[in-house]
Amino acid sequence: MRLPSARGPVTSLLFERLCGAPGAPFPAVGVAGGLDDDDLQLALFTCYELHYQGFDEVDDRWEWDPALLRFRATLERWFEEALRAAVPRPEPMPPREVREALFALTSAAEGPSVAAYLQREADLPTFREFVVHRSIYHLKEADPHTWAIPRLSGGPKAALVEIQADEYGGGRRERMHAELFRATMRGLGLDDSYGAYLHRVPGITLALSNVMSLFGLHRRLRGALLGHLAAIEMTSSLPSRRCSTGLRRLGADEDTARFYDEHVQADAVHEQIAANEMCGGFAAAHPELTCDILYGAACALELERRWAEHVLGCWRGGTGSLIGERVPA
Ligand SMILES: [Fe+2]
Ligand SMILES: [Fe+2]
Repeated sequence: MRLPSARGPVTSLLFERLCGAPGAPFPAVGVAGGLDDDDLQLALFTCYELHYQGFDEVDDRWEWDPALLRFRATLERWFEEALRAAVPRPEPMPPREVREALFALTSAAEGPSVAAYLQREADLPTFREFVVHRSIYHLKEADPHTWAIPRLSGGPKAALVEIQADEYGGGRRERMHAELFRATMRGLGLDDSYGAYLHRVPGITLALSNVMSLFGLHRRLRGALLGHLAAIEMTSSLPSRRCSTGLRRLGADEDTARFYDEHVQADAVHEQIAANEMCGGFAAAHPELTCDILYGAACALELERRWAEHVLGCWRGGTGSLIGERVPA
């Protein structure tokens, strides 16, 4: 993946530094903006990406450069504050109530339904836009939550590994969810290479990925990471069915729809494992972190709601939801 164009003063500074050798100091930067701020979300995404696949033109040693980590910490402080302002902290609760609270939170998640739009109304260019947005996460699907594995033990660890094993195709490349998603991209005439559309997605799309990396890369936020994964799994099965129906309405073949077909089944199972053995088990072992579990789930749902508002607002207003031209090249 290549570095995209800068989107403001923070990414300008960051990209200029990253193109040189590690070790250069970073000047202090003023960081302020909403959760959908393009410049800040792209800067944070870029810092996090150094822990995943990296960038072609960036020296791998930047990953643990102290000046860059300090710079990232400034961005993370802003991001955590913006999340706190947007998502109320759940009330503490007994660990045995966490499972039910997760089901109540996810079933009450309100907001515009992108999946219903894709099922019934979207044309092909709009569906392609949706897939471009989703590619930012789905091409690294499961990776951010894998950070939790060494941070857990016993039952919750086994439960997370059971979910992740499915996400990684049970060790078979052709069944990996990220690979299934690449087939969906190819079927829609899109570039399936990692990060090909980073330059096209707005800040709110990057925020969906950044929140997982934030929770994943800080052990203190491991409860929030588990709650985040549970929220994803518990709100995936029905929307996946709708996406599959929408794709077939638009004439897509089996290979193109398989990613969504797979999630109808898999996530109906994953949601139970995530809520019961993983989050329920973790809450029982760490009663002081029950709030964090619910908070992580609520952050996932709130960012998704804001993202849905953005894309549906654009589509209903007859404009594209990506940066640049309507239909990706
Ligand atoms: Fe998946
Ligand atoms: Fe899943």
